[in-house]
Amino acid sequence: DWKMQDVLEEEIKVIKGMVRPDEHVICALSGGVDSTVAATLVHKAIGDRLHCVFVDNGLLRYKERERVMSTFQSDLHLPVTCIDASEQFLSKLKGVKDPEMKRKIIGREFICIFDDFAQELEQKVGKRPTFLVQGTLYPDVIESCPPPGSGMTHSHTIKSHHNVGGLPKDMKLKLIEPLKFLFKDEVRKLGSILNVPELFLRRHPFPGPGLAVRVLGDVTEGNALEILRQVDEIFIQSIRDAGLYDSIWQAFAVFLPVQSVGVQGDQRTHSHVVVLRAITSEDGMTADWYYFDHKFLVDVVRKICNNVRGVNRVCQDITSKPPATVEWE
Ligand code: XMP
Repeated sequence: DWKMQDVLEEEIKVIKGMVRPDEHVICALSGGVDSTVAATLVHKAIGDRLHCVFVDNGLLRYKERERVMSTFQSDLHLPVTCIDASEQFLSKLKGVKDPEMKRKIIGREFICIFDDFAQELEQKVGKRPTFLVQGTLYPDVIESCPPPGSGMTHSHTIKSHHNVGGLPKDMKLKLIEPLKFLFKDEVRKLGSILNVPELFLRRHPFPGPGLAVRVLGDVTEGNALEILRQVDEIFIQSIRDAGLYDSIWQAFAVFLPVQSVGVQGDQRTHSHVVVLRAITSEDGMTADWYYFDHKFLVDVVRKICNNVRGVNRVCQDITSKPPATVEWE
């Protein structure tokens, strides 16, 4: 792709001109496509004066930390520090049920950790980092500042969409946003030129607050997160095996804070209910629920009930957006 090859070379030139040889740059990797492609591009321009951090907030999917760290290190050779902050996040979330409150707490913790990371880096390299890399895309730019008459609204007013984007203002970091003029499909092409694995480039979007908005209510109660991870993994793996992953915008499981009566052998059970949700969408602003065939659903429900202890009922969410949102919180 010639156009993206040009974009790449141009961006590298711009970044090299922007960051002086003695300056350092930091980047928070979320595990998503945008921050990964942005960091890989910047790394190509300035090498190991880029310092990335990936935070495990205890709200990641099944084996997510291992999987993304392996892509960052083995495939992309990015200089990345992995911080396991799960205890810290989960202790702050204990007893919190309100969705917006959960988002706020997660955002705040993230900023604390990122701050510490920047300070430790200053100790290590003897210089305060001066730049921050962000994977902002063109639609994000328009959305946070919709051109008059564009008919676009702020989705932010519906849910406080916290991305790793919301970072300390008093850090006075200059921004490097190499994807600012690109759309998602262009970012994928760029990623492909930068050797980001195809499988990674096609990953479904995942919300910043992670599984916290998919366990309704208090995320620390019982083993909700563990159950959700197992159910989600079975669902996603089944979707991949059926060759449906790329036809779906987002698919995931939701954990409900209720128990229902079931029967297993001749035993009555009182166990958890989970919901499967899969949607198609152009941009997440509106969405249609995805139609699975009968056999797929039968198989997936059987797999979940046979393999995940503590689940005796599986429902499917067949509500579009609107009136529902994509996430349940
Ligand atoms: P909703 O639930 O608002 O979701 O219909 C639309 C898209 O946004 C994602 N989403 C989030 N992403 N932080 C994020 O980074 C959030 O708090 C958040 N809430 C929703 C959602 O996964 C879907 O792709």
